Amino acid sequence: MRVFKEQLTLNSFIKKQSRDSIGLVPTMGALHFGHLTLVDKAVSENDCVIVSIFVNPTQFDDASDLNSYPKTLEEDLQKLAPYGNQILVYAPEVKDVYPDEACSNRYTFGLLETTMEGAEREGHFQGVATIVHKLLSGFKPTRAYFGEKDYQQLCIIQQLVLQEKLPVNIVKCPIIREKDGLAMSSRNTRLSEKDRAQAALIYATLNKTIALKNNSSIEDINHIVQSTFDQNPDFRLDYFCIADAQSLQPITTINHRQAARAFIAVKLGGVRLIDNVNF
Ligand code: PAJ
Repeated sequence: MRVFKEQLTLNSFIKKQSRDSIGLVPTMGALHFGHLTLVDKAVSENDCVIVSIFVNPTQFDDASDLNSYPKTLEEDLQKLAPYGNQILVYAPEVKDVYPDEACSNRYTFGLLETTMEGAEREGHFQGVATIVHKLLSGFKPTRAYFGEKDYQQLCIIQQLVLQEKLPVNIVKCPIIREKDGLAMSSRNTRLSEKDRAQAALIYATLNKTIALKNNSSIEDINHIVQSTFDQNPDFRLDYFCIADAQSLQPITTINHRQAARAFIAVKLGGVRLIDNVNF
């Protein structure tokens, strides 16, 4: 495994190796088993895999969220070391990514961007699209791997690739969960022991909505989810939304032929957690 701080150096290293296919796994570090499943898939499908580790400032709308984001480069490199030479790590400083000012490009993603996470976190997806665009056009990977954990992000990136006509295959990877169902996330380490134990309620509630699907309306399901979290004062429900799996627009009636997903964001002890399931 080699670690590069500069895109130029990494690119000239790859050029010398003449590899047929390149996989890209963009991350913000604090790697957990969920991230590693993306790396596993990329390693199995490409000659060489670039794992980027960069806490991208332009996608944070809140400075304290950016500052408290875990930075664990040494541990991350230890987790990637067993993959050996097939892995190239890109762990830049902000200057290598944003030589001038760290600011986002302007993209138009329409309603995909204004719903759910986009409504809650101003400018977030402009920042995500900016960094992903830079990585895709900088490294020109054959395939790039993203998790369904951030399903809306995945939709935005697919849209970015279409709009910018980027020659890359976007590979969707399923959500990896802890034993109790909590979706793995770098943010989980910030939960107190008590909150960590309670956090299983998020996935349990999503599963409950699926069980209700045949006999309840969307309105009833929305009420049930809201009251589940109202009864647990440690939680604050940011949103729950059953939406079309492609347009991400809320659906108002259940149509069994329409692909839909249930999305949730909650705050628990000051930590914001998101999850989603096939509905
Ligand atoms: P980060 O949160 O580090 O996630 C990196 C990738 O890992 C994303 O594609 C995310 O969806 C995936 N991932 C995280 N937890 C997962 C889980 N439990 N199961 C499956 N996949 C999971 O997402 C970002 O970083 C950033 O926004 C980034 C795309 C790197 C741009 O800065």
